[in-house]
Amino acid sequence: MHMTFPLPLPDEKSREALCKAWERQDLNRYLQRWERSTVQEMPHDMIAFTWRACDIGCGFGKFLLRESEQQPNRAYLGIDKGNLRGGNMLKRFAAAGRENLFGIHGNITPILARFPEQFFNQITVLYPNPWWPVKHRKKRWAYHPILPHLVKLLKPGGILTVTSNEAFYLSEWAYTLEHHPNIADMVSVYAGPIQENEGRTHFETRFLEEGTPCGELRHQKKSDVQA
Ligand SMILES: C[S@@+](CC[C@H](N)C(=O)[O-])C[C@H]1O[C@@H](n2cnc3c(N)ncnc32)[C@H](O)[C@@H]1O
Repeated sequence: MHMTFPLPLPDEKSREALCKAWERQDLNRYLQRWERSTVQEMPHDMIAFTWRACDIGCGFGKFLLRESEQQPNRAYLGIDKGNLRGGNMLKRFAAAGRENLFGIHGNITPILARFPEQFFNQITVLYPNPWWPVKHRKKRWAYHPILPHLVKLLKPGGILTVTSNEAFYLSEWAYTLEHHPNIADMVSVYAGPIQENEGRTHFETRFLEEGTPCGELRHQKKSDVQA
């Protein structure tokens, strides 16, 4: 049985902080910090697939291991920057030995900034760190300069999914997709409790075992958007 997961509008202070962050965002300036680093390339073999997904902050890769087995004709890319999770994910993907499963151990921002627009049919962000303290809120994806670009990476009709055990986090996400001046054409197709019993990821499995309510938002890019 799934619990309800109410998503109130972010309070006035949060709405103001979001608007301020969006006005100041400059992805190119933000990317300067990687100018002298080697940034991992897009896995070239993904191009051969017509349906492609990316799981952002994929952790140990549990979700993509399941999906890539069920859908061998679809390509799945997991990216995680954590030493433990990102490194472990690469080992698990290599052990699975699947041609449709790709992993990158690195930071999504410089990596996905180089991907072509309208590349993915599905982008998932499952249980990202909510960065609770107000002083850290700029690290939340809703405040981050990469978010409008993530939306551009979706094909028309593509789905962007985020899950969290924190209602405030999902509320800020929903508000951002509706009001960000550089995000357009996203329509809410689901907002409510997660509809899973097994646990798609390690965090979700733990939350289900503990009985912690979790929420999910799914937004779809309008299918008549021009290339
Ligand atoms: C709370 S964990 C959730 C992991 C997994 N999705 C799950 O549900 O079990 C968040 C993950 O996001 C990763 N992460 C956070 N920011 C990232 C970034 N900028 N690029 C790549 N990975 C990131 C962290 O390393 C961490 O593994």
